[in-house]
Amino acid sequence: MRRPIVAANFKMHLTGPEVVAHAEALVAALAGVDDVEVVVAPPFPALERAARALEGSPVRLAAQNVHAEPRGAFTGEVSVEMLAEVGCRYTIVGHSERRALFRETDAEVSAKAAALLAGGIRPILCLGESLAQREADQTRTVVAAQLEGSLAGVPGDRIPELVIAYEPVWAIGTGRTATPELAQEVHAAIREQLERSHGAAAAGIRILYGGSVKPDNAAELMAQADIDGALVGGASLDPASFASIVRAASSR
Ligand code: 13P
Repeated sequence: MRRPIVAANFKMHLTGPEVVAHAEALVAALAGVDDVEVVVAPPFPALERAARALEGSPVRLAAQNVHAEPRGAFTGEVSVEMLAEVGCRYTIVGHSERRALFRETDAEVSAKAAALLAGGIRPILCLGESLAQREADQTRTVVAAQLEGSLAGVPGDRIPELVIAYEPVWAIGTGRTATPELAQEVHAAIREQLERSHGAAAAGIRILYGGSVKPDNAAELMAQADIDGALVGGASLDPASFASIVRAASSR
């Protein structure tokens, strides 16, 4: 069985002290939940403090981005080693905001994923179509191409360590969630594609849904056969609402 993951992407929200307060409240709110992997991704400057606040708890730390090169003259960038050093177990790559606002390509996403795996950090690889692409009936082809391109540089034997997040762009921060059936359809297609490319390992890969996940819609999403958790933006900023999404994954 795939152990569900519920991950919080704080994006460019929450200062260091706010992240610490969030971590403390979250750990308290999750007491007794042991069948879900819980991950939080604060902004870079708060990572070290978050790691200290989460020490001894089962909540895992993630970064929101990384640079693929190990070191060098890349002003403003952060390496895998730097993230590992502050305790990151996961890192989000290929988020649609990075793809759209910072022009990140599949090739860059693939290089980042490969570098993370080489450095012992699991990538959370984001995929998703825009509203125009969905309306043009291109969801399957767009997501399939992103998946193929984003995995191009990842060694096949490391694929099982990957976490995938399907986040339809039109559902992010809009309050408009994909219906559970619609999300399941894409998740199943992603898993079938992984089966074709990587065989039996596909059955063990966690595929998360992201896009306006809230406490009141989490349970029906998690109930779908190929939805193995959630990547949560807005609703993760409040520890109580994030904890209630975790509980929805716990009782699925
Ligand atoms: P929202 O939950 O705010 O829609 O954001 C989803 C997301 O982008 C998580 O990475």
